[in-house]
Amino acid sequence: MTLKKSASLALMALAVSFFIGCSSKENRDKYDQWYGSGSKAREEAALVKLQNDRKTAIEKAEAEAAAKPATPAATPAAAGDSAAAPAADAAPKRKPVPAEVSALLNKHTCFACHQAYDKVIGPAYSEVAKKKYTADQIVELVHNPKPEHWPGYPPMAPLAHVPKADIVVIANWINSL
Ligand code: HEC
Repeated sequence: MTLKKSASLALMALAVSFFIGCSSKENRDKYDQWYGSGSKAREEAALVKLQNDRKTAIEKAEAEAAAKPATPAATPAAAGDSAAAPAADAAPKRKPVPAEVSALLNKHTCFACHQAYDKVIGPAYSEVAKKKYTADQIVELVHNPKPEHWPGYPPMAPLAHVPKADIVVIANWINSL
């Protein structure tokens, strides 16, 4: 009887000590991560990681700073960008010209006489936008300009060769200014 009792007690004690042993091993592992064997190497690795993180953060900030001034015409400018970039400008209303539109304005040489927000030889497109033409009317006016619409400006030469589809894209953009 006593033997059996002590045997089961011993078994319990073993189980308990096993349980305690496990949890204390876990604790020791945690402790070891920083204070146990090899802690020096881990400390160095952590330091290198910290330095790398700082470096990439700085590089990212520099890349962002470098990208900013290029926004007006060069970048396609996602909606988020176009909203954020001009905020730094003097005139907050100025949006960068979308790449697709800017390509067409270059191709058909409209940029030679027109800018989005500034008068060049022809009126700024933002001024044209105030006239609230439909896209079709703008197509017609590019093919057959009506200089009487713009007193004080030289007459725009008729640009009959510019495809209607291209002018529609430009017209929709003008009306978005
Ligand atoms: C050689 C210079 C020149 C070029 C190139 C030029 N324009 Fe013009 N544009 C003008 C001038 C000047 C006016 C104002 C006088 C006029 O309407 O004739 C004008 C007016 C306009 C108007 C307003 C029309 C109105 O009656 O209110 C639109 C729209 C326009 N241009 C679009 C374009 C587009 C699109 C292109 C390229 C396909 C283009 N222009 C190329 C000089 C130019």
